Amino acid sequence: KYLFPQLRKYTKYKTVRHYSVNKKVEKQEEHVKTTGKFVPFLQTINIRRSEARRSIIVQVQSTQSFKELWSYCNSIGSVKYMFHYSIGIEPLHFIIVEFAKEEDVKSLMSCSIYSEGHSAMPTQSHFMWFKAASKKIKLKQSKSAKLFVEHGTQIKVEEEIKTSLSKCESVSDQIKSLHELTKLNEVGTRLRFLTALQIEDAVTGMFPSAIAYPFGSSVNGYGKMGCDLDLFLRLTDDKKKEDGRLVFHCKPLNGSERTMTQRHMEAIGDMIHLFLPGCGQVRRILQAAVPIIKYHQQLTDVECDVSMSNMSGVHMSDFLYIMGELDERVRPLIFAIRNWAKIVGITNSAPGRWISNFSLTLLVLAFLQNPQSGKPVLPTLNQLGQLAGKNDQFLLEDGTDCTFLRDITNYKHETKNTDTLEELLIEFFVHYAHFDFENKAVCLNDTAVIAKPEHTAMYIINPLERGLNVSRNVSIEEVTRFKSEVKNAAWVLESNEKSLNWGLLSIQTAPNVTNSMFQKAVAAQAHAKAGRLVEIKSIFEKDAEDMKRGGE
Ligand code: GTP
Ligand code: MG
Repeated sequence: KYLFPQLRKYTKYKTVRHYSVNKKVEKQEEHVKTTGKFVPFLQTINIRRSEARRSIIVQVQSTQSFKELWSYCNSIGSVKYMFHYSIGIEPLHFIIVEFAKEEDVKSLMSCSIYSEGHSAMPTQSHFMWFKAASKKIKLKQSKSAKLFVEHGTQIKVEEEIKTSLSKCESVSDQIKSLHELTKLNEVGTRLRFLTALQIEDAVTGMFPSAIAYPFGSSVNGYGKMGCDLDLFLRLTDDKKKEDGRLVFHCKPLNGSERTMTQRHMEAIGDMIHLFLPGCGQVRRILQAAVPIIKYHQQLTDVECDVSMSNMSGVHMSDFLYIMGELDERVRPLIFAIRNWAKIVGITNSAPGRWISNFSLTLLVLAFLQNPQSGKPVLPTLNQLGQLAGKNDQFLLEDGTDCTFLRDITNYKHETKNTDTLEELLIEFFVHYAHFDFENKAVCLNDTAVIAKPEHTAMYIINPLERGLNVSRNVSIEEVTRFKSEVKNAAWVLESNEKSLNWGLLSIQTAPNVTNSMFQKAVAAQAHAKAGRLVEIKSIFEKDAEDMKRGGE
């Protein structure tokens, strides 16, 4: 607590509403998950994977079916938790059932049946539906039977978020609230791991060591409710067994690695389309730099992007996860900035010439490593690299070195930066309003100023694959718009009076146009304050001069 204040975390007890067999609905302190101490990224992935292996998803008539389902499942194994969620306007109801042991799920599957008739492919998976009993059964009353109902998959509507934010005490509180209201919840996480398990199970007959690794925002701590699931499907592991004498006959690989990956992904795409229950809208994007298959899993309501040649994405997620764990301000700040960027139209979920959420996240982290105040909130990747131990060495097949400290439990990261979230948010906007994108690269490996190695509008050095530019797609127009929006946001936040749309809400309005920026500049001069506002003012004045020169 005293040595590592920024890592200070307590076991979280979540208050959740649940239905229980004996009392109808009750509120109770329920220990859902112990999150008291830091757990390394790959370990959290493994914990969640095995939790998914012990779980099934059952479609039911309504939440009321839980007692019967509990009783049925308990007659075969031992049920640990049940979570309810629903999908759609005329909702379909589902219950995630987690058992105590993986064997319980195996026993349950061995006595589960296929639909009658020949109108569906008879595939076995963790997705089932609960048939009505043929005769009335007497339920055994179990005190422990309970169903968590407040974790659903519903995304909070904008109005609800706005109302909550308008009631906050300060901008920093708004940033924390936004994070709490929009982050991926327990059910969302479980559904993503069950979605990953479905595809992994589908190939393990041929590839027994296949793993579908979730990466990206679903697991790195920056995921919102409803975020997509990025999956890296690895068919074999690289652990070589050299002492065996019998060697498997295997098909030879013909053609380049990329061509083979594309062909294999086509086959995986067909398999998802033809055999996996709930999977639809399969799209193959095989010509992209990283070929992917997109599909929608309707039973979990998760949009998936599967790749087969991108293990660096998993290590990148580990790096982002660690950054979020090192200081409790990082995740709320990133949520606020990603939300602002989406609303003002700087980012867009469709690929294009704009800044991606991933690039924006790196921009925030780079700022936190090297803020204008000279007091870093976060260490650089090189600093983490120097602390790496034996278990942190990861060299990928293509030579990419992903070595950096993974377990930060004993890492004494002491920051002198005590800025509030509000101050950090404004500093972020001012930082990039000044940033010389024309000549400099953004770098997370080191704080030294690095000149852009090639002429692209924005250059963010990929922290793991250092020769690559993460923001290569971004056009000059988008960089100009980004700079204009950060200036505007800094200005509005600094000059904001407490009205209905104050603080975070004031910067989350429709895209800014230069004229309105000017109007705000003129209006805000009336209550210009000392300090940072003067700095922001000078940016506007420079803009005005540039525009005069340009005759606009
Ligand atoms: P959202 O899906 O928008 O919530 O965020 P995300 O972080 O998951 O982004 P996205 O789905 O676009 O990408 C998933 C992961 O792929 C990222 O977290 C990165 O690890 C990796 N990734 C995305 N874009 C790039 C890129 O341009 N270059 C590299 N090297 N990796 C990328
Ligand atoms: Mg994603």
